[in-house]
Amino acid sequence: MRLDKYLCQNTHLTRSIAKKAIASGQVFVNTQCIKNSAIKIKEQDDITYLGKTITSLSRRYLMLNKPPHYICSTQNELYPSVLTLIEVQSVQALRIVGRLDVDTTGLVLITDDGQWSHRVTSPKKECYKTYQVDLAEDINSDAIQHFKQGILLKNEDHVTLPATLVIKERKKVLLSIQEGRYHQVKRMFTAIGNHVKALHRVRIGSIILDTQLKEGEWRYLTPEEISSIN
Ligand code: URA
Repeated sequence: MRLDKYLCQNTHLTRSIAKKAIASGQVFVNTQCIKNSAIKIKEQDDITYLGKTITSLSRRYLMLNKPPHYICSTQNELYPSVLTLIEVQSVQALRIVGRLDVDTTGLVLITDDGQWSHRVTSPKKECYKTYQVDLAEDINSDAIQHFKQGILLKNEDHVTLPATLVIKERKKVLLSIQEGRYHQVKRMFTAIGNHVKALHRVRIGSIILDTQLKEGEWRYLTPEEISSIN
């Protein structure tokens, strides 16, 4: 890997600041000052920046059981970011895979691997997200076919991709969708004259929310969970 890439992957430095740090002699590879950003480093090399060894933060993949009143943004706004619940080194390098509304709870994936994240969120990858939905009104079984065929959401001009609805109780359903349009689940139920009272994500692809995790708790994904996204 190039020296500047290694630095910005494993520190808070951006690529251009990493290049400047290297050019100004602040970076050493195995005790030798290196001023060329393009130099290729090996796994066993010792890289220091301002006298401190930079350890490799290899890619990280986490699942969080999101509580309500936290936002899926890297910055705190009116509510705190879900990243404030993750106490790991260089939390700033992590990104939230897709978004849940502030009042939605359940499975959130977090990673610093942009390509993996894209495979979860891209509708082309058909990675289904499953939600437990509590409804205000009784569900009509016609909705199963309706959601399968796709529905037109307010202010949109193309129908939703096929979604799977499983009716659990009169006002409790499981809905699996493969897109992540703005407030999609809530708007789908609004479109059929119902109203979502509570929304909890339980599954993304074949990754299931770990029931051992209480609200606000997280764990690293297993190698099997990571490789299930492809
Ligand atoms: N759909 C919604 O309406 N809200 C969410 O948080 C996720 C999906």
